[in-house]
Amino acid sequence: MTRTYLVTGSASGIGAATARALTDQGHRVIGADLHDADIEVDLTTHEGRETLVARARELSGGTLDAVIANAGLSSPSTATVAVNYFGALATLEGLRPLLAGSSAPRAVATASMASLFPVDDELLQACLAHDEPAALHRAQHLIDAGAGGQVYGTTKRALALWIRRNAASAEWAGASIPLNAVAPGIIRTPMTADLTATEEATKGLLEMVPMPLNGIADARVVADLLVFLTSEANSHLCGQVIFVDGGSDVVIRGDSTW
Ligand SMILES: NC(=O)c1ccc[n+]([C@@H]2O[C@H](COP(=O)([O-])OP(=O)(O)OC[C@H]3O[C@@H](n4cnc5c(N)ncnc54)[C@H](O)[C@@H]3O)[C@@H](O)[C@H]2O)c1
Repeated sequence: MTRTYLVTGSASGIGAATARALTDQGHRVIGADLHDADIEVDLTTHEGRETLVARARELSGGTLDAVIANAGLSSPSTATVAVNYFGALATLEGLRPLLAGSSAPRAVATASMASLFPVDDELLQACLAHDEPAALHRAQHLIDAGAGGQVYGTTKRALALWIRRNAASAEWAGASIPLNAVAPGIIRTPMTADLTATEEATKGLLEMVPMPLNGIADARVVADLLVFLTSEANSHLCGQVIFVDGGSDVVIRGDSTW
């Protein structure tokens, strides 16, 4: 059956690979991104988030079968907080009503294995309290203090926690919508191009993000998982943060999942 998908970050990397994989299967994809997309919006802004929902409603005719909240940034910047956490939530929550008309609605977000790194608790709490001005303020403080490296992982930890906290709720599980996340390791995309530009840089990166199983992955690897999580076949995964990371979660966390 042909399904209609909304994919954010569709112009590049994992989002583009996902859109391709879905259209190859005959599905319809409505892409959203800053540029080169059906819906061109800036998800760091309230206006952009509202436009996303309004245009998705128009283009889909009022029903989506799946939402893939994937757009993101990794720079130490306030925009990273605005798009990775608040933009992803606005995508998932704003588009949830459009999933109501689907016979097999699905939703997924792209988190990261970086959610395992030490986080800034004040930024994390501001995100989880849904206080965007406080979160942006704290992120700027971290950047000014030379601790901007914590911003990305903290936004991804917050996103993963939000998924865990909301997946079983009346709005998601109660409406028969599996809500899950993927947590990629290092993936070859424009986001990581500089980090993997030389052998030496790659070696340093893999020391931080160990990937004993097959090393750095192509975007298609994550795309295939996103396609499964948003397929009709996925009826019972609820609030899972699935690490597709060549083993970094296992190496870093070991037994601690239980
Ligand atoms: N590449 C990796 O190693 C890796 C690892 C873990 C998680 N991720 C996550 O995967 C997702 C996709 O990243 P990617 O590697 O494909 O990177 P990418 O840079 O190739 O693609 C990200 C896309 O998001 C879009 N985007 C950024 N800010 C936006 C905004 N304000 N509004 C709308 N769109 C915006 C960009 O324009 C771009 O097309 C991100 O959430 C990223 O954090 C990537």
